[in-house]
Amino acid sequence: MEFYSEKQQITAAIDALKTKGLTLGLVPTMGALHEGHLQLVKKALDNNDKVIVSIFVNPTQFDNKEDLEKYPRTLERDMDLLKTVSKNNIIVYAPTVDDIYEGKTVSQNFDFDGLEFEMEGKFRNGHFDGVGTIVKRFFDIVKPHNAYFGEKDFQQLQIIKKLVDKFHIPVNVVGCKIHREPSGLAMSSRNTRLKPEYKEAAPFIYKTLIAAKKHFGTNSANEVVKWVANRFSMHNLLELEYIIIADAETLKPVKRKSSKKSYRAFIAVYADDIRLIDNIALN
Ligand code: PAJ
Repeated sequence: MEFYSEKQQITAAIDALKTKGLTLGLVPTMGALHEGHLQLVKKALDNNDKVIVSIFVNPTQFDNKEDLEKYPRTLERDMDLLKTVSKNNIIVYAPTVDDIYEGKTVSQNFDFDGLEFEMEGKFRNGHFDGVGTIVKRFFDIVKPHNAYFGEKDFQQLQIIKKLVDKFHIPVNVVGCKIHREPSGLAMSSRNTRLKPEYKEAAPFIYKTLIAAKKHFGTNSANEVVKWVANRFSMHNLLELEYIIIADAETLKPVKRKSSKKSYRAFIAVYADDIRLIDNIALN
């Protein structure tokens, strides 16, 4: 498996592949890979000649220093996992902070037409400027034909589509379904940090989303939001940060339902000091 950590080297490798006329897929990650990431990689391998998996814990998208420091870094293990998927067609790109940010570890400011002010944008200051900055940089370096993002971070996926649109970046953005543990818990690199009792409690999040979907058939968004908040208020381990039912395209909270629109429920929950997010399509 090819591995690069320097921009110059990966740029040369990419140029050589492009000269050969090969299709390139990009899967941006922050490492600590799990089966959810591998689903994106597998989908990318099905539709491209070569797949570049970037592994980079991006400092500019963390508003919490401790979260950044505690973020798991498991490069050796990540490479081993990727080798189980393909030995010849994956290229790992794991730059250093200095190489990618060239000494200026700051984000560009973006206007994502308001998508950045909803949900995660409200609770994680500057998060989407950080995500936009790094993903745009990876697009510039790798120049992929296709790029793969999970619906696990649905708001991020919509923001990347907006980024591509606004900057006329010639890449096809592919959204991939949420991969879950058998318990229903959405897979996340943060799950490895859950203490046993919290790991056991966490599937309550997805169970509640499924129940919310049922309620949404006959109740208003407001009633469903209240119902979910009430369920969490009675839970002694999980603390709800937000539950929002929003238009899947604008991400604005729903006021009155329309049969022509797609809606999703979005949730963020603290399990001890670990923040978990999930979402579900409602119609
Ligand atoms: P990270 O959290 O490592 O996720 C990398 C990609 O994997 C994202 O597109 C995310 O949505 C997807 N993913 C994670 N868990 C998933 C699951 N259970 N099912 C399906 N897809 C899943 O998201 C980031 O990194 C960063 O913000 C990044 C885009 C790399 C920019 O730094």
